[in-house]
Amino acid sequence: MVLTFKFSSFVDVVVSVSVSNLEKVFPPNVYALRDVSVEIRDGEFLVVLGPSGSGKTTFIRCVAGLEAPTRGRILFGDRPVVDVERGVNVPPAKRNVGMVFQNWALYPHMKVFDNIAFPLKIRKLPRHEIEKRVKEVAEALEIGHLLDRYPRQLSGGQQQRVAIARALVKAPQVLLMDEPFSNLDARLRVSAREFVKSLQRRLGITTILVTHDQHDAYALADRIMIINNGAVQQIGATDEILNNPANVFVAQFFGDPPINLVDGVGRRDHVDLGDVKLPVPAPEGKLQVGVRPTDIYIADAPLSQGDIELPRGRIKLVEYLGFTPVAVVAWEQTELRALMYSKLKEGDLARVFLRREGVKLFRDGVRVG
Ligand SMILES: Nc1ncnc2c1ncn2[C@@H]1O[C@H](COP(=O)(O)OP(=O)(O)O)[C@@H](O)[C@H]1O
Ligand SMILES: [Mg+2]
Repeated sequence: MVLTFKFSSFVDVVVSVSVSNLEKVFPPNVYALRDVSVEIRDGEFLVVLGPSGSGKTTFIRCVAGLEAPTRGRILFGDRPVVDVERGVNVPPAKRNVGMVFQNWALYPHMKVFDNIAFPLKIRKLPRHEIEKRVKEVAEALEIGHLLDRYPRQLSGGQQQRVAIARALVKAPQVLLMDEPFSNLDARLRVSAREFVKSLQRRLGITTILVTHDQHDAYALADRIMIINNGAVQQIGATDEILNNPANVFVAQFFGDPPINLVDGVGRRDHVDLGDVKLPVPAPEGKLQVGVRPTDIYIADAPLSQGDIELPRGRIKLVEYLGFTPVAVVAWEQTELRALMYSKLKEGDLARVFLRREGVKLFRDGVRVG
């Protein structure tokens, strides 16, 4: 039986996605995924963030059924779509996922209508049903007036909407997107993110988007999974990961402006950076010390009680990050980036304050304080 397609009724079909101990080894021994586990809730927007080659595409292809993992399980709701031990690997067409590929993969010789209709034609739906669904999804994505064009006659943003429409037209339970914004210029990317976010909210569809760009994660994610070298580094909401990075990799990879990271020595009641001492409790011995530029600032007086004053430092240069001025403040050896809440200029000596909870301590790359 063919269910009547109603764009507004997606909410009824959302499912959770549960991934356990997923491993993918490409022969002879490329570990693209190592023991990846993550639970994606009904209607949640998960962004998988990692550098190039970290396993993002492999991960999303395993969820789609385009790649067979070498170990692990994936459930949609309580339905196993992958269970390597039991020999379960449901083919992509039976998983009911919509996939937006990195290069969008539109068929250049087909008009927009036929591009969007393609997944329905494969399913051999009746012509009038196909027309109804394509029109409905195209209207919802505001490309209803473009159905007669070829992809080359569209802007990048419009092409992307066609790719999303094609992914959504069969009312999938799960929407998967692989770097969907990487072909768009910076300005279009902002509006495309807003569009994807509001669409996902409207449909309530469980969504996994993979990207190397942390700004995609800030804009879109309910939660973020950071991976490196095929292994999960941390899963959490944006502010959890910013405030509590699990390790040095996460601290450095996630956060804009990037975290200050310097070597220091723990002395129980302070961390010794050589010329500067940070009065925070610390385990003894060599440490890596991380302080986000948003946790250290130059001002004429402390902004909150309890902030720690450091020795005066010299403003080496001031740069703008968006509208926010950030100074490089220098002592004898140490240099740190700090927010500027003062009218001082380059070359001036400045009062520098530190938020107590802003100091993150690492040893051998792992968080210790
Ligand atoms: N078909 C393949 N055969 C062999 N190695 C592959 C294949 N696909 C991906 N890899 C390797 O797996 C790792 C992860 O790749 P990929 O998932 O594409 O990373 P990302 O999408 O994060 O850039 C890389 O080292 C890549 O070279
Ligand atoms: Mg990729």
